[in-house]
Formats: sequence, C-alpha cells, structure tokens
Amino acid sequence: MTGSSATIIVPTYNEAPNIVELVRRLSATVPDGCEILVVDDSTDDTPDVVRAVALTSTVPVRLIHRDEPVGGLGGAVVEGLREASHRWCVVMDGDLQHPPEMVPVLLETGRGTGVDVVVASRRIAGGSSDGLADARRRVVSSAAITLTRAMFPRRLRDCTDPMTGFFALDRQRVDLDALQPEGFKILLEILARHRLTVVEEPFVFAERFAGTSKATLSQGVRFVRQLARLRFGRMPMFALVGVLGAVANLAIMAGLIAIGVPYLAGAAVAAVATILGNFVLQEVLVFPDLRAEGRSLGSRFAASFLFNVGEAALRLPLPWLLVEHAAVPSVLAQGGTLVAAFLARFVFLARVVYRP
Ligand code: GDD
Ligand code: MN
Repeated sequence: MTGSSATIIVPTYNEAPNIVELVRRLSATVPDGCEILVVDDSTDDTPDVVRAVALTSTVPVRLIHRDEPVGGLGGAVVEGLREASHRWCVVMDGDLQHPPEMVPVLLETGRGTGVDVVVASRRIAGGSSDGLADARRRVVSSAAITLTRAMFPRRLRDCTDPMTGFFALDRQRVDLDALQPEGFKILLEILARHRLTVVEEPFVFAERFAGTSKATLSQGVRFVRQLARLRFGRMPMFALVGVLGAVANLAIMAGLIAIGVPYLAGAAVAAVATILGNFVLQEVLVFPDLRAEGRSLGSRFAASFLFNVGEAALRLPLPWLLVEHAAVPSVLAQGGTLVAAFLARFVFLARVVYRP
C-alpha cells in the first residue's frame, strides 16, 4: 500500500438521512489522502445530499449516480472499484452499521500484513452481529455462511464472514471483468473467483442510523443463484428447473385424473402447463441476466417452444432406433437419450435463445 491513502466505496440506495453523519464520522477518522466514493442507485434525494456535503467536507467526496443500475449492491461496488483513485479500497455500507472508526484499522492491517483482503468479521472473537435485530435473519445468515464455507473450503478458509459488506482490498489483485455481481454478496463473489490472501478484524455490526434495510426476499433468491453459478455455472439451476418441471408435470396429471379428467386430456393439460412453467423458471432462475440482451420475449418463447416440439418428436423414436438398429440395450438407449436431450436443451438455450 502506498502511504495509507485509500478510496472508501459506499454503495447507496435511498440513504439520504445517513449521508451527513457518515461523512462526518469518516472525516474524523480516516487517514489523509483518502477519498469517499459514493456509488448511488437511489430514487430519493441521496445524490443532492451527497453533492451538498461534498462542498464542505474535508475529505474529498465523489458521487457516481447510476441511472441504469446493473447488479444491484454488488454492481455498484464493482463500479466503485473501477473508478477508484487509489489502489486500496474499503467497501462499507452507507447506513452506519459498519463503524467508520474501523476503516483505519482495516487499512493498517492491510499494510502491516501484506495481504490482499482485510475482512471486517462479525464472527470472530470481539465481533458481533447484534445489529441484525431480526433473530430469524441471524439464524438464516449463520446457516448460509456455514453452507457457503463448506462449498468453498479453500477459498474461504480464512474468512469466517464471507457475507459481510465491510472489507478492504487491493483492487489490483482482483479481475473486475471476471465478476458477475448479483445483489448483496459481493465479497463472496470476489473471494470465490480469485486466490487471495485474507486476514480478518472483528467488528460489531451496529444498528442502522436511520432508514430501513434494503434486503428483501429477492436478495435470498439472488444469493442461491449466485452460489449455484459460482460452483458450476448455470448448470445446476438448469437441472433443478428440469426436475421441478418433471415433478410438476406428474403432479398436475395425477391431480386431474383424480378429479375424473380422462388420461389423455390430463396429460395434454399437464404438458402445456409444464412448458409454460418451465419457460418462466428458465427466464427467472437460469438466464435472468441475459434476458435483456438478445431476442424479444416472444422470440425466446417461440424458440424454446419449437425446441420442445422437436425434442418430443425425437425422444420417442430415437431410443427405438438405437435399440432396433444399433443393438443398444434399451435402458441405456433411454437413459442416453434423456442425457443427450438435457445437454442439447442447455446448449440450445445458452447458444441460441439467450445468446447475448
Ligand atoms: N448502489 C446500491 N444499489 N446500493 C445498494 C443497493 C443497490 O441496489 N441495495 C442496497 N444498497 C446499499 C444500501 O443503501 C446500504 O448502504 C448498503 O447497500 C447495505 O444495504 P442495507 O439495506 O443496509 O442492507 P443490510 O443492512 O440488510 O445488509 C448488510 O448486512 C448484511 C449482513 O448481514 C449488507 O452489508 C450486506 O451486504 C450484508 O450481507
Ligand atoms: Mn444495513
């Protein structure tokens, strides 16, 4: 680290009542030569408040306002890392749940130890997450951390709190183009995609100064998606959607038959419902980030639908052909056809329907 100058990146979404206090407390504690970089996606007057405070602040305050926010909180952090003036950056929330007085501690530790990342952890001696007032969220957070550390045993070996939004890092050690930021868990994204050295400093997660949390259920969905993608690309989510589709298909059919609908009609209704359901899940869970880029919704649906028709037309005769003309054992022919159909569908969707 050159001197102790650093860029303090603060992602904000409607944090107007917190900005003045945040800048005041940061100014009182950060070393000379630091800048504060607010990356804002707000719909309230946060940008005006930031501009006003920048006029009088002793520490330089810069504002990036994104009119078209991509990647949510994580996307804002990556933008901040791209635009930072200094090599060392501290990422922290704008609601004062991350004590500004910890910033110099993180930077000192980075300089003293020569590591790539200094994580402010709630989960080592001296730290605590009592500021997460909701006990249910504390339990979910603990379970998620345990699962995540199990999935990335090497990369997260030295990080007890991969979900924290408070850390310092040497941005030259991070390949920003390799990141696929999705919502809140940007530190996890960074650690899982690089081989970085990490040390931790304990901190006490405080109460929010003002306003309310932006964490929603959809953040949970984004997190599951992020985990799946970090581990195996889109494949597991795609497989899960396939399994859900098959289960739904059978359940709908059984339900209809149970209420007296004839078998063929039940099967037809179940097939249509499954095709529609699969399409929605594939849009929302498997390719959400590519929807905006290529074809229109109608064209995506038509292409997916045509693939279904073609696949159905081949799936019956193909095993039969293999058994009759290539002497393949029937179970192998059936299984092989299913696997091939699964892979062909994935390739078709990724390369044709959702091609960016
Ligand atoms: N630019 C931008 N865009 N900022 C955002 C967005 C967004 O879409 N969503 C949230 N933020 C900002 C908030 O304004 C705040 O400064 C910070 O990100 C954290 O958001 P909160 O709404 O305060 O989240 P939290 O307190 O529930 O969650 C915090 O603690 C979690 C651990 O329990 C965050 O630090 C999480 O990253 C962390 O996992
Ligand atoms: Mn918060």
